[in-house]
Amino acid sequence: MNYNILVTDHSGHEHELEATPGFTIMEIIRDAGLDLEAICSGCCACATCHCYLNEEWLDKLNKADDDEESMLDQAYEVKKNSRLTCQLTFSEELNGMKLTLGPKF
Ligand code: FES
Repeated sequence: MNYNILVTDHSGHEHELEATPGFTIMEIIRDAGLDLEAICSGCCACATCHCYLNEEWLDKLNKADDDEESMLDQAYEVKKNSRLTCQLTFSEELNGMKLTLGPKF
């Protein structure tokens, strides 16, 4: 079975990306060639992988831990649905998840 996520880029265009369980959302977006910096490559040390989750998916994910919360404090335009995509691992239950890339640094 194929899984996917739907990602809206900075210009408002929605991309359907093939998603493999076990990969982080950041890896899926970056490997698809979208404009996501992810400077620290997933070490929770840069906040350049910031995204806004579509509200309906918020409850399906674990809450941000203290490390993610403190990095989000350094991101731009943080909202209550903000997450760092490197801290979210894709699983079958997240098939069809929608998110929007955060503002660029
Ligand atoms: S890639 Fe740096 S915090 Fe996610």
